[in-house]
Amino acid sequence: MPDRSAPIIKNFPHLLHGGDYNPEQWIRTPQVWDEDFRLMKLAGVNTITIGVFSWTMLEPEEGRFEFGWMDAIFDKAERDHVQVILATPGGARPGWMAQKYPEVLRVDEFGRRQKWGGRHNHCFTAPAYRRRCQSINAKLAERYKDRPNLAMWHVNNEYSGECHCDLCHSAFRGWLRRRYNDDLDALNHAWWNTFWARTITDWSQIDPPSKIGEGAVHGHNIDWKRFCTDQHIDCFNAEAEPLRRVTPSLPITTNFMGVFNELDYYKFAKALDVVSWDSYPSYHDRPNDWLNAVTVSFLHSQRRAMLDKPFLMMESAPGMQNYKPVCKIKRPGLHVVEGLQAIAHGSDSVQYFQWRKGRGGLEKFHGAVVDHFASEDNRVFREVAELGAAMARLDDVAGAPSHADVALIYDYENHWAIDNTKGPRNVGKNYQETCVAHYRPFWSNGVNVDVIGADEPFDGYKLLIAPMLYMIRPGVAERIEQFVRAGGTFVTTYFSGVVNETDLCFTNGFPGPLRELMGVRAEETDTLYDEESVAILPAKGNRAGLSGKYAARQFCDVIHAEGAKVLASYGGEYYKGQPALTVNKAGAGSAYYVASRNDARFHADFYGQLIDQLDLTRALGAKLPDGVTAVERGDFVFVLGFNRSAVTIDFGRSTFTDALNGRRLKGKLRLPRYSALVLRRPVESSANSTNARRKSLSRR
Ligand code: GLA
Ligand code: GLA
Repeated sequence: MPDRSAPIIKNFPHLLHGGDYNPEQWIRTPQVWDEDFRLMKLAGVNTITIGVFSWTMLEPEEGRFEFGWMDAIFDKAERDHVQVILATPGGARPGWMAQKYPEVLRVDEFGRRQKWGGRHNHCFTAPAYRRRCQSINAKLAERYKDRPNLAMWHVNNEYSGECHCDLCHSAFRGWLRRRYNDDLDALNHAWWNTFWARTITDWSQIDPPSKIGEGAVHGHNIDWKRFCTDQHIDCFNAEAEPLRRVTPSLPITTNFMGVFNELDYYKFAKALDVVSWDSYPSYHDRPNDWLNAVTVSFLHSQRRAMLDKPFLMMESAPGMQNYKPVCKIKRPGLHVVEGLQAIAHGSDSVQYFQWRKGRGGLEKFHGAVVDHFASEDNRVFREVAELGAAMARLDDVAGAPSHADVALIYDYENHWAIDNTKGPRNVGKNYQETCVAHYRPFWSNGVNVDVIGADEPFDGYKLLIAPMLYMIRPGVAERIEQFVRAGGTFVTTYFSGVVNETDLCFTNGFPGPLRELMGVRAEETDTLYDEESVAILPAKGNRAGLSGKYAARQFCDVIHAEGAKVLASYGGEYYKGQPALTVNKAGAGSAYYVASRNDARFHADFYGQLIDQLDLTRALGAKLPDGVTAVERGDFVFVLGFNRSAVTIDFGRSTFTDALNGRRLKGKLRLPRYSALVLRRPVESSANSTNARRKSLSRR
């Protein structure tokens, strides 16, 4: 396991609790600010994020700055030992800028320049935008660089979208010329442009994909998305430049979103000192809340793995999230579990959007720690304060490492390619949901997983899972093969190894560059209507944990075993009797091919068996009830219960200390509805080596 990381905020070795604070909305009533700081103390808040949307309040006209209100907030925060995450204001431009420099306004795919309004709608190429950002960011850095409570930088806000202005067009063409070494012929081949007479005879013919132009060239679509990621990172770097120059020792982040796949966040993360993200799950839209929680854990597991160190949950809703179709209130208790869930998976913070509800605007009903009737006497405030008090007792968790034996590939470029391609099913492709379905059995067994991109290193893992790895970029198959030959276990599924990095199909038989390793050839991919299913019948003595009958839905690869051992076959359709699950030995390892999209019971049995066979680290030896997960982080185990009614956990013969109240815990314990435990390892086993400890736990 890697060592404990240095605190994200220098000399502040605590978990961060706080959130987005918009004091400028209350500039007419500064007594509200004093009330805010009084309440922050009661809520156990030690960090605020200010300035995210403050540009006009800081620079009402170009070159005239007003920092008085921000100075006052820094003073109050310093007095109360509150750390300040200072945001740069690029997420929402002032009106004067749009009037004076129209190039900062984004152009949509129909060529319409947008008017001033809203937010997150700047052109990320426009020099006028970048220059104005750099100017105000430099002012902020110069003014606050010596403040002892200036903790870190939060650049812009939730980058997203694309711009189709002339500046972006020409930047895209330049990007393509570099990528294809100025060789149009290479580009035409990579994009398969003889199809529909798309051959490009001059670089100037290339526009970004759009509904009123090109949309049928998959390689073009994917390259445009790659360009958009690069251009966002370039813009971020331009915004960060003065911060790096004036305050070189302060960490810099930008807040990523949750289930959002427009940008390649793995690539973006490399430009950051700390990954942070905004978590806004829906809850209570179905009977099992824990199924929602699995996706949240999946995202945390991904954000932690991005830089292989603690991250920040930069925003979350303490109450209602007001953008959902139905904004159902999170049920009492869930807030604390959600907060501890983030920490369990490697977050060193629980931060909210927002500290106080505004009186007006689109987000006036969005959950906040402080309600319109500002008082500590309400449920949300009490739950936030309860979590704050718990976090204050968990200093030893801050910076603590996480370890995973399992990596699951969820790759953005692959996601774009799958969504983009026509067929073999144009609805319900569900790439991300499929990755979450393969992640779920590990959640239920308390086994940590790193969610990674296909270009990340695979060494150090025992098990590598790549659901629907449709696109295989150069080098990836070779690295998977090395991983297996060196003793790793690899699992992939239907619709894998189909195309290369520009979406050209492999012609050596699917799964293309993985065919030999997997020992199978996929001849056809059949897709079914939603209500249809095909039985999967395990082979006798399959040793893959399978028994009884399973159901395959939506995707069924029709495969031939070419050396692989058949562990299950289809029980119906024209491919009845053909393999549905295979394993192939290569070097010291094994490679499994799951030919169809299977039910949850299949995943539970199949991965349950692999967890045992490969002796994967479980946070608790005990079998966990449905709806409960256990997550190991450093010397702590977080037990997180998302059930609507109480369940019982059996710790067996292990004894733990409750890190929140010092109680010794052993035997059977009742876990009330929506509740969590933070356990410290038993003293006797943390003295042993990590490996010995894991073994003894998993043998129980
Ligand atoms: C039409 C067109 C063809 C091809 C097929 C696909 O018939 O003429 O070029 O696109 O549809 O079904
Ligand atoms: C995002 C934004 C915030 C706010 C919240 C509301 O995370 O960054 O400014 O709009 O959503 O949920």
